[in-house]
Amino acid sequence: MKTEQTEIYSALAHLYDILMQDVDYEMWADFIDEVIQTHHPDPIDVMEMACGTGAVALCLSELDVYELTATDKSGAMIEKARQKAAEREADVQFHTMDFKDINSDKKYDVVFSVFDSINYLHNEADILKMLRGCQNILKPGGLLIFDFSTPQNSLEAVDYLNNEEGGFGSFRYFRESRYEPGEQFHYNEFDIEELAEDGKTVIRSFNEVHKQRIYSLQEMLSILEQTSYHQVAKYEGFDLVDADENSSRITMVLRCQKQQ
Ligand SMILES: C[S@@+](CC[C@H](N)C(=O)[O-])C[C@H]1O[C@@H](n2cnc3c(N)ncnc32)[C@H](O)[C@@H]1O
Repeated sequence: MKTEQTEIYSALAHLYDILMQDVDYEMWADFIDEVIQTHHPDPIDVMEMACGTGAVALCLSELDVYELTATDKSGAMIEKARQKAAEREADVQFHTMDFKDINSDKKYDVVFSVFDSINYLHNEADILKMLRGCQNILKPGGLLIFDFSTPQNSLEAVDYLNNEEGGFGSFRYFRESRYEPGEQFHYNEFDIEELAEDGKTVIRSFNEVHKQRIYSLQEMLSILEQTSYHQVAKYEGFDLVDADENSSRITMVLRCQKQQ
């Protein structure tokens, strides 16, 4: 059988929630809410980028505080997110959007992205494109919040991510993970199989290669210096604790200074 080389997060969309079953998204949503409430006087319109299957946006919607829009490049992930929202009767508008082509008629008080999604942008030019796109859809004084993972994170995580396997319903996966410190790229390669009703016969097989550029704090700060954003804070982990070069995940909080 020929393995189909698929776009990232297309076949994997069927398994994503199983892959992330140990992630505490409620805690992550509470952290984002805390960051927003700490740094914005009157946040109403909030957009999540790279929302995946919508876990954080759906948790935030339960607070009944924000008008939520959630976007992702992958149509398959957005479809899963919409199904979950319908089951929970959650009021979140989902649609597809690429970091590299951000556009919206609506303006936002807050735009955010979590869980290494920014690391799918492979170079400075693409990060700058994302930052400028957000500037165009943020209200003056609005916040851009995003996390990125650093070399420390890749060095710590690669051993337990490598050779991971699992399954859900008619799908199963095997993951190979490797980090190339010289080029600062982290590769996660997923072999995914769709099984027939007997649970054994493979009817389709897919391969997705996920490539993420891993940024140090210094690299990210030098990219941000090229923009007019005001740096409000940089947090380590899920507390309002200042990040430094040793942090493995860093959440940047930036204020849009554009005058309109
Ligand atoms: C690790 S997942 C995180 C998803 C979600 N934020 C979560 O916490 O579960 C990375 C997400 O980034 C999205 N993504 C990758 N490249 C993107 C791009 N260029 N524009 C928008 N989303 C992108 C993927 O489709 C995927 O849903």
